Amino acid sequence: MSNSIGKNIVFTLFGESHGGEIGIVADGLPAGLAIDNEFIKLQLSRRRPAGSISTARREADEYRIVSGAFNGKTTGAPLCLLIPNKDVRSSAYEFLKETPRPGHADYTAAVKYGGFADYRGGGHFSGRLTAPLTAMGALLMPILKARGIDISAHIYSVGDIKDKPFTPTALEMETSRQGFPTIDEAAGERIKEYIKEAADNGDSVGGIIEIAVTGFPAGVGEPWFDGVENSLARGLFGIPAVKGVEFGLGFGFGNSTGSQANDAFSLEKGKVVTKTNNNGGINGGISNGMPLIYRIAVKPTPSIYKEQRTLNLVSGKEEGLKIEGRHDPAIIHRAIPVAESVSAMVLCDLLCEQFGKGCLLQREVVKL
Ligand SMILES: Cc1cc2nc3c(=O)[nH]c(=O)nc-3n(C[C@H](O)[C@H](O)[C@H](O)COP(=O)(O)O)c2cc1C
Repeated sequence: MSNSIGKNIVFTLFGESHGGEIGIVADGLPAGLAIDNEFIKLQLSRRRPAGSISTARREADEYRIVSGAFNGKTTGAPLCLLIPNKDVRSSAYEFLKETPRPGHADYTAAVKYGGFADYRGGGHFSGRLTAPLTAMGALLMPILKARGIDISAHIYSVGDIKDKPFTPTALEMETSRQGFPTIDEAAGERIKEYIKEAADNGDSVGGIIEIAVTGFPAGVGEPWFDGVENSLARGLFGIPAVKGVEFGLGFGFGNSTGSQANDAFSLEKGKVVTKTNNNGGINGGISNGMPLIYRIAVKPTPSIYKEQRTLNLVSGKEEGLKIEGRHDPAIIHRAIPVAESVSAMVLCDLLCEQFGKGCLLQREVVKL
């Protein structure tokens, strides 16, 4: 199912940008998981637009868990989380019926759904739906953390500006979830300026996000098609505007030799480790106990205020397009908690596949 992900826990995302409410259902969560509302609020606030480098749409994201939770814990029944859309101005999107935005899903949705899709604000394809996605992952992240598994993401690069990367072993990873999501504050300031400059020119910018997962046990993931890489990539490509995913050295493997790329095994305090982590903690689709390290490429926001060319689908003629509405000049900083959340959802499901759902409730994930 295209709006669902997961095998042991099935997560289903629903709603439209300008509909009454958006939400997510998690079917298969074990009973007894504690819900940390403060952490969910924190992650939602990190995704929320802020200042001149984000859309002017302001949503409080006051979520409600309407089923599957009782006395602060999951019940085992399907958990449904709803978020209302309040700051909606649909009139700015009427032009989409005739003139699709280049780079957005207006045209493909119109073709696939025969003109019946809700086009207002990007409808079901809108980045707005990443709010419930963020909330659901934020419900799971403290459960993983209590089992020693920590997920963290930062901006790796925007244009030529690079943040400090996670170390090859991610042992010194930055886990702060306060402020702009770069490790190097100065790089963060330069990135903000770069985004502002693009916004002043009516344009948008893309960038790369790096994600690290520490404490993930060895032996999780299936060979061939349900590996850790496959599963994460399926989830991460679901995030609107994500156009590339790479693990470890990723495309860098293309110009390295085996002797440079192979991660030598070693024993450290009784634990099998590798001296380098070019494979991003995954061999044969199965985790090897090293930190999972991967990056996603986020494209520039398709809706830009600069005039563009498009096709009028009614007249069949090319014409100029001046987009109205409220849009992000960059998605990258807002997508950080989304990437963390999608990772949490996918990794919880994989852990359940390997160890059974009880592993989410035990103090420690089974160690090999
Ligand atoms: C957090 C977030 C915010 C977004 N904000 C906007 C926006 O303001 N305007 C826009 O045109 N696209 C925005 N997008 C991207 C579009 O939703 C996306 O490009 C579109 O659905 C087409 O999908 P694709 O880029 O994956 O092909 C956003 C995406 C995310 C993750």
